[in-house]
Amino acid sequence: DGEIFKYYADGGWRKSSSGKSVAIVNPTTRKTQYKVQACTQEEVNKVMEAAKVAQKAWARTPLWKRAELLHRAAAILKEHKAPIAECLVKEIAKPSKDAVTEVVRSGDLVSYTAEEGVRILGEGKFLVSDSFPGNERSKYCLTSKIPLGVILAIPPFNYPVNLAVSKIAPALIAGNAIVLKPPTQGAVAALHMVHCFHLAGFPKGLISCITGKGSEIGDFLTMHPGVNCISFTGGDTGVAISKKAGMVPLQMELGGKDACIVLEDADLDLVAANIVKGGFSYSGQRCTAVKVVLVMESVADVLVEKVKAKVAKLSVGPPEDDCDITPVVSESSANFIEGLVMDAKEKGATFCQEYKREGNLIWPVLLDHVRPDMRIAWEEPFGPVLPVIRISSVDEGIHHCNASNFGLQGCVFTRDINKAIMISDAMETGTVQINSAPARGPDHFPFQGLKDSGIGSQGITNSINMMTKIKSTVINLP
Ligand code: G3P
Repeated sequence: DGEIFKYYADGGWRKSSSGKSVAIVNPTTRKTQYKVQACTQEEVNKVMEAAKVAQKAWARTPLWKRAELLHRAAAILKEHKAPIAECLVKEIAKPSKDAVTEVVRSGDLVSYTAEEGVRILGEGKFLVSDSFPGNERSKYCLTSKIPLGVILAIPPFNYPVNLAVSKIAPALIAGNAIVLKPPTQGAVAALHMVHCFHLAGFPKGLISCITGKGSEIGDFLTMHPGVNCISFTGGDTGVAISKKAGMVPLQMELGGKDACIVLEDADLDLVAANIVKGGFSYSGQRCTAVKVVLVMESVADVLVEKVKAKVAKLSVGPPEDDCDITPVVSESSANFIEGLVMDAKEKGATFCQEYKREGNLIWPVLLDHVRPDMRIAWEEPFGPVLPVIRISSVDEGIHHCNASNFGLQGCVFTRDINKAIMISDAMETGTVQINSAPARGPDHFPFQGLKDSGIGSQGITNSINMMTKIKSTVINLP
């Protein structure tokens, strides 16, 4: 009906002076579902100014009060789970049950962050000088954790709510202000989530949510002198941001090519279940999805048959029907995935299912006998396509895993715990899961990528620490 969702600044909902909007295309219908404001650089400046002022007062607000507001926001978020999930279904074609789970998980994350914050921010260190050579016991050092200032949060389309609150809640509990730039697909879900924080009663200007075109405000935001820290989750854009950003701490998660190494002694039913869940949940659009299976040749035939049987049972269709496989986020994404599939076809991969596509909907495909000269062996499809590479030794599997530019997570399936630990140590990834598919959660676990997969470590505790700086006061005795 032409309604354009307002952006959130200075404690209220505003129209952009640009008079322009950005369209959000429903991945299923491929028609415009919603419109959001195309904010201007001037509006970004205002938001940054307001954030700076609000942050100073917020940092002086008692920690327990900051936690109380976060608990309130968490409860309101859970109350609003149905309409927010509805947006996720329409904007990013997330299956309806998963959409509800994302919102509930986000509420839990906010509450946990409030609890963790009051514990870890409520204590500091006390050091004495005579432990360092040459010193008398004449200096006492007191440390505490102080906020950084204004945090810029940029979450991706695949978890517009959860990966937003995983940045917002740690920032706020630590006494920072937050400027959120949601992904275009998922922007309305994010605005609704911000509305829950608004209802909780946070001070004006402390939280803002700016929508718009990357070309207009993307670099302007990330290079803005008012930003004191950037927390970004997404793709290649993160590499560009890290090169352009000023002297501010960065927290980045930029995708992965998570390998699943399968040894001869593995429980193959367990492996098959995890490959299907890990590879095809949300149609493979997760940075932690299983993106390549490296299986010992001797058990490969049996495993591929088991996976094939499970893939055949996946339901394919609209997210409203809670289908397992739903349309991927955009036509360009579907085209990219198709490019990888066609490359594998030309180079002789074995198709366990026939490749089929209607619009943005791609039927799940397991590709067997993939070889290292195929793009799918290295590139991240972010779609329901999973390559299987047969290996003749564990070293070959580790070598393939480590030859990747990515290093987010990986997994190994074996009943031999000693082998599992040795393989985990050898894999150059931020996390290795033993006998389960990769996953970020539970949300308080550390989450980090090596190489092109990221900078810094996330997870609730690490994010709170990352969004603070140590302040020392030294008492010099006469
Ligand atoms: O793709 C984003 C990444 O953080 C995945 O999270 O919970 O699906 O493992 P999760």
